[in-house]
Amino acid sequence: MFWKSQRKYMIFLIKNKSEGEENLINGKMNVAIIGVGYWGKKIATEYSYLSKKDAQINLYAVCDVFDENLEFCKEKLEIPHQTKSLKEIFENDEIDAVHICTPSETHYEICKEALEHGKHVTVEKPMTLNSLEAIKLVDLAYQKKLVLSVGHIFRFDAAIEKAKSLLEQGWFGDVYWMKFTWTALMPPMVGRDIITDLAPHPFDILNFLTNDWPNKVTCVAKAHRKGQQEETAHITCEFPNNLLAHIEVSWLNPERKREVQIMGSERFTKIDCVTQKITGYENEKFFDMPNVRSNTIGDELSYFVNCVRQQTSNQVSVNKNNGLVGANVVKLLELTKKSMINQRTEPVQ
Ligand SMILES: NC(=O)c1ccc[n+]([C@@H]2O[C@H](COP(=O)([O-])OP(=O)(O)OC[C@H]3O[C@@H](n4cnc5c(N)ncnc54)[C@H](O)[C@@H]3O)[C@@H](O)[C@H]2O)c1
Repeated sequence: MFWKSQRKYMIFLIKNKSEGEENLINGKMNVAIIGVGYWGKKIATEYSYLSKKDAQINLYAVCDVFDENLEFCKEKLEIPHQTKSLKEIFENDEIDAVHICTPSETHYEICKEALEHGKHVTVEKPMTLNSLEAIKLVDLAYQKKLVLSVGHIFRFDAAIEKAKSLLEQGWFGDVYWMKFTWTALMPPMVGRDIITDLAPHPFDILNFLTNDWPNKVTCVAKAHRKGQQEETAHITCEFPNNLLAHIEVSWLNPERKREVQIMGSERFTKIDCVTQKITGYENEKFFDMPNVRSNTIGDELSYFVNCVRQQTSNQVSVNKNNGLVGANVVKLLELTKKSMINQRTEPVQ
């Protein structure tokens, strides 16, 4: 089942509600990061800035299986507690929230345990590798009254936020198509395919910009070098209102791009999601559009902390990168692969 709106899912949950436990944060919020490899170190660094700026946030602990990663967090970031044991994190009542930055195949089990132990969670993208597991996590968080966020970082990119606001103002006129280019030249990846790894961001941004999900998805993808896993994929998403979106994800392109283009009847825009530079086009002329760059990771973490602070026993905090969005993105990843395997367009239901 594809959940077209959060409201529809909430109605389902309310009808099926069981007694949930309360988990309210008063005062200081202690956070632990699970997995401090490439991405986890960036998250840890930002949390440590936030802890210095806001006395109510405390980066309390990190957990990783590698000594050198724990050492980095101790020496460079002065994080007080390091452990190799997930159990230590889950059973420590001082810890209010965790940010999970472990490999994607571990997300479901680690996230489930964290929620079962009453921790608020941000889990990195993709939320899980299986949409049924993702929806179980959404349900568990709801029953436990816990915040569940997904690391959909581009919701905090000022250029993407500006494009959303322009769309809402009708600046583009009728929107004809959107194009997403997520490319880089990378060595062959072991155990990772391009759709699972890179497509979550374009799918998520597409939902953020349109407030909608496609009703059809078509994918052609190839594994060019060693291994069986795809390294280049071309995905087409069709919407009921005639909008067409094209997504190119590739590890075989020397041009490293994180780019969104939007074409409408009145105007066009191109967004570099890394520099947050926006180029407009109107009356046969390209022009730079003003934009104040955001700190995407910092803003994502502050937003999560605020969601936790606003969560009460009676009210689920409004959360723009909530678990339900994450679950629908995982469902789209599954349909994309189904389309690739079956060589046909898949309906999104
Ligand atoms: N939001 C984004 O833009 C973004 C960017 C990069 C990566 N990610 C996501 O972050 C996750 C991690 O990616 P990465 O590139 O940092 O991978 P990585 O391999 O560099 O880091 C993963 C870390 O998790 C640790 N780990 C694995 N199993 C563990 C366990 N059971 N307990 C504790 N630690 C464990 C590993 O030792 C490693 O240090 C992936 O899901 C990836 O998709 C998100």
